[in-house]
Amino acid sequence: MTDTKKKIALTGIKPTGIPHLGNYLGAIRPALELSKTCEARYFIADYHALNACKDPAVLRKMTLEVAATWLAAGLDPDKVLIYKQSLVPQTHELLTILMAFTPKGLMNRAHAYKAMLQSNAEAGKDPDDGVNMGLFTYPVLMAADILLFDTDFVPVGKDQFQHVEMAVDIAQSFNHVYSCEALKIPQALSSDISSILPGLDGRKMSKSYDNTIPLFVPEKQLRKLIMRIITNSQGVEEPKDPDTCTIFSIYKNFATEAQIQSLRERYLAGGMGWGHAKQELFELMNEHLSPMRARYDELMANPAEIDRILAEGSAKARDFASEKIKYLRQVIGVE
Ligand code: ADP
Ligand code: TRP
Repeated sequence: MTDTKKKIALTGIKPTGIPHLGNYLGAIRPALELSKTCEARYFIADYHALNACKDPAVLRKMTLEVAATWLAAGLDPDKVLIYKQSLVPQTHELLTILMAFTPKGLMNRAHAYKAMLQSNAEAGKDPDDGVNMGLFTYPVLMAADILLFDTDFVPVGKDQFQHVEMAVDIAQSFNHVYSCEALKIPQALSSDISSILPGLDGRKMSKSYDNTIPLFVPEKQLRKLIMRIITNSQGVEEPKDPDTCTIFSIYKNFATEAQIQSLRERYLAGGMGWGHAKQELFELMNEHLSPMRARYDELMANPAEIDRILAEGSAKARDFASEKIKYLRQVIGVE
């Protein structure tokens, strides 16, 4: 049952392989936290992925992986609506409607498109080389995803703020033309910038830097990766600064206040080597990640179960979406 008093939180998850620890702590865990106070609608943005991925087997695999990840991380499909964008075709009807309210100039300003133009210019290529219309109109499809579900909040990384602002512009333009409030104005939400998780080399953990800890690596490999975290050359006896240490930054995200305080004191006191700190981090992380990893492996061994969950969620999503489209058809006069 829809609780009408609750605000609606919606986000799209691009299927791009198994997420890393930074994705989990910066995106997945906060979105699951938000679902405790909001009515949450989280979907797999597979049509967005099509712009870059044209291999059906890869797209299917990545979709399963990302769905299994969110389910293993604690998403309860009875409480959170989880669906697949490609199973909600109303999205594309709204996309067509919104196209008529989207100035081309707005798309020219989109960061992803501008980045392509620039890299083409630097490589001496034609400005639009490799730019398909899916990439160019990406923000309109994202606006359709958001506006179709009367979204209040969109939890996303800072890199997606511009897209949400574009959805706002498009919705306002639509509402203005018909003197109505048919499209709800969404707001982007982001976890604090200070919560950026460092990777193995101390830079931001990111696929692009190849410094990640994938979320569900087997225990042995997890330990190996943690042992690879780069530290300074301080000896065992030297006091260490927890606030500039990658091990400590990761540890904080899994530990209780008492555990954080205890490790902080041992850093400052000296007498604890990096190897020891890494071992503590490994044990704590493994304790948290083991049950999730087991659930992930179980789901991946049974893709039919993932498909069932996505099909069920998508059927509910279509019910919401077709109501909305019916109403919008009346507004624009095509019913
Ligand atoms: P990557 O940098 O590995 O390509 P993405 O850009 O796909 O990661 O990240 C998806 C989301 O995960 C981001 O929008 C952000 O909210 C979160 N995220 C990614 N890396 C980190 C990190 N190192 N620390 C905190 N959050 C992160
Ligand atoms: N563009 C988002 C990303 O790259 C994914 C996405 C697609 C999305 N549609 C959305 C996010 C709607 C929020 C709302 O991460």
